[in-house]
Amino acid sequence: MTVQTVMVIGAGQMGSGIVQVHAMAGVQVFMHDLKAEFVERGMNTITKNLDRQVEKGRMTEDDRNAILARITPSTDLQNAAKVDLVIEAAVENMEIKQKIFSELDQIAPEHTILATNTSSLPITEIAAVTNRPEKVIGMHFMNPVPVMKLVEIIRGLATTDAVYGTIEDLSRQLGKIPVEVNDFPGFVSNRILMPMINEAIYTVFEGVATPEAVDEVMKLGMNHPMGPLTLADFIGLDTCLYIMETLHEGFGDDKYRPCPLLRKYVKAGWLGKKSGRGFYVYN
Ligand code: CAA
Repeated sequence: MTVQTVMVIGAGQMGSGIVQVHAMAGVQVFMHDLKAEFVERGMNTITKNLDRQVEKGRMTEDDRNAILARITPSTDLQNAAKVDLVIEAAVENMEIKQKIFSELDQIAPEHTILATNTSSLPITEIAAVTNRPEKVIGMHFMNPVPVMKLVEIIRGLATTDAVYGTIEDLSRQLGKIPVEVNDFPGFVSNRILMPMINEAIYTVFEGVATPEAVDEVMKLGMNHPMGPLTLADFIGLDTCLYIMETLHEGFGDDKYRPCPLLRKYVKAGWLGKKSGRGFYVYN
């Protein structure tokens, strides 16, 4: 199947990026969220990104306008009746995701693939609330979506080869590089990334070094584009904690225990860049 029309659920940081890369690849896309103001905010982010490309001479005004014209704002889930693929990028909460998937299963046509951008929740468990588990798949984009090349594609227990192939082809059409993984807590990306971030937080917690020193070591010593604590602030400390809890619960091993300092920051509302304060202060 060739995917011609997509609905992205969630117009936040990840959702708006996913909408942008689809529209840029010539796909018609609904940008859906609960409130019109959330959709508008997502639209503003995309418009700003495209304007920067025009300013830099990498895109014509006509191309920019054509990309924006491929995006339809949506606050009505019934629009899922018009698409070949839904990509859910809502909050990381199993109950909410299952509710969305069970509604989508009722609305979307039989051929429609239901994908989730979850960063760590089991695809198989989300698929289980639908009558089409063979058409449910993980399509995990990285932040910032327009820049990062990877799409981690996660097969649920029942996902068919045909569905996997469609999502793999689409990822390539988006200019991304797909990597196939199986359905285990944190998949591959966050099973490796998050324990590193958690360990960086322990390093600060135990007084080994300041956040600045930890980040400098990893940036200059390991050539990481951002230090782990800057990256944690960028991802959101609530998301980092949630993923660590998913790993800890999923594997039951003490090595995945979230650092108490991470819990403390999240309880304080220090969620990183989005709340203005995390390991660093943002204006
Ligand atoms: N949206 C769109 N474009 C963006 C952007 C954004 N939010 N942020 C940066 N860019 C673009 C810039 O416009 C710039 O583009 P051009 O080169 O075409 O002008 C390019 O990215 C580089 O940006 P900068 O020069 O401003 O800054 P940089 O060189 O430091 O790169 C970065 C910024 C790409 C974010 C880089 O720091 C980086 O790769 N950081 C690590 C990101 C990372 O690890 N992401 C994965 C997070 S984990 C995740 O997403 C999964 C999960 O489940 C938690």
